Amino acid sequence: MDANTILEVQRVRHLFGGLVAVDDVSFRVYVNQCLSLIGPNGAGKTTLLNVIAGVLSPAAGQVLMEGKSLNGQPAHERARLGIGRTFQQALVFKDMSVLENVMVGCHLQGQTRLIDAALRLPRTRREEEDVYLEALRFLNFVGLGTKAEQMAANLPFGQQRLLAIARALASKPRVLLLDEPAAGLNRIEKSALVDLIRRLSDMSITTILVEHDMEVVMQLAEWIVVLDHGKRLAQGTPDDVRRNPAVIEAYLGTEVE
Ligand SMILES: Nc1ncnc2c1ncn2[C@@H]1O[C@H](COP(=O)(O)OP(=O)(O)OP(=O)(O)O)[C@@H](O)[C@H]1O
Ligand SMILES: [Mg+2]
Repeated sequence: MDANTILEVQRVRHLFGGLVAVDDVSFRVYVNQCLSLIGPNGAGKTTLLNVIAGVLSPAAGQVLMEGKSLNGQPAHERARLGIGRTFQQALVFKDMSVLENVMVGCHLQGQTRLIDAALRLPRTRREEEDVYLEALRFLNFVGLGTKAEQMAANLPFGQQRLLAIARALASKPRVLLLDEPAAGLNRIEKSALVDLIRRLSDMSITTILVEHDMEVVMQLAEWIVVLDHGKRLAQGTPDDVRRNPAVIEAYLGTEVE
């Protein structure tokens, strides 16, 4: 394990009943890198993100953060250690304002704050103001500053995806897991997303990007891990991967030159 590695997935295996969803997968992620996890539907990408986030416990193998095994650490503890995420399906709390959605993320930073938030007991007015300003800062960062007071449900789908990222950022992750952030976005929204994810590494955030949109992947990924039927089919630079015959056969077809 070298100092530049922030996260390491070591021989992880996960089963759903008899189905091997993730089969002996290993890879490492370097600090500030954007690593993309790709592969056909059902390849095990979301399952692997859930193992990294601590939502699922692997049947074998382990995930290490800065050299320390995370085995046995529950999801909230991993969030505290700096593993943040967005979800493939659930995007935002629809009955809250855009700003409140991000404030929820700010509250997740510490245990006490989470309890305060749950009981709706702000410790001081000053602290609430800090959270408000901080949430606004993250909204501005994703380009939604002018939408703060709108109901989240009224945002167009693409902006809900950006909001989900703002909320994840508010918990100050060091490693951010993104599950298909470009799904359903139009071209303009996609380029805003690409620009946003690029700016994350300037903020010292490492990203693991699960994505089917190869244009987005090729613009962002410094390293690609390809899963197929739960197994690591290949890994390498975008150029290596797009030329790999096994990857073309299993996933890319002839779409990517
Ligand atoms: N909760 C679950 N219970 C049982 N099987 C599951 C569960 N979640 C996923 N699976 C199965 O595990 C395998 C891997 O699924 P996973 O969702 O990780 O794939 P994925 O690579 O994220 O696919 P997609 O690109 O469609 O999102 C699939 O065969 C899927 O049907
Ligand atoms: Mg998935």
